[in-house]
Amino acid sequence: MKKITNRRTKIRTTRITLNKRLVALFTFSVISLSACAETVLQGDIERGKEMSGVCGMCHGDNGISLIPIYPNLAGQKEQYLVLQLKAFRSGERVNMAMTSHAQKLTDQDIADLSAYYAQLDPKPE
Ligand code: HEC
Repeated sequence: MKKITNRRTKIRTTRITLNKRLVALFTFSVISLSACAETVLQGDIERGKEMSGVCGMCHGDNGISLIPIYPNLAGQKEQYLVLQLKAFRSGERVNMAMTSHAQKLTDQDIADLSAYYAQLDPKPE
């Protein structure tokens, strides 16, 4: 009798260990899959600033545009800026003024420019 109980306990313990392993494996897969889907690059604000000269012609030196049909970029959400620049680059979003500028950008350029514009003050004095 005692022997059987011990065996049952052993089986249960093995099952729990297996379940824990499965949970760990599943979590790991989800994390790696999401990492593959979109590699989030760290934006370099200083480099973004250096690159922003040409953008400033239309979007303003401080990210506030002087032309009514050109959007402000200062203080915009960083991930939104990344998505829009990639959309212009791929042709998913099209604009005569913007497309040619976006086509020249690498993923790192986009990350840096987005980090730069996102931290600018949207309402400068
Ligand atoms: C010749 C003018 C011009 C230049 C230079 C220019 N842009 Fe633009 N940009 C525009 C216009 C116009 C729009 C709005 C497009 C539309 O209406 O769809 C725009 C839109 C954008 C948007 C989307 C904003 C939003 O709210 O959806 C981003 C981001 C952007 N530009 C970033 C940049 C960056 C970064 C550069 C420099 C590499 C740059 N632009 C250079 C004219 C310009």
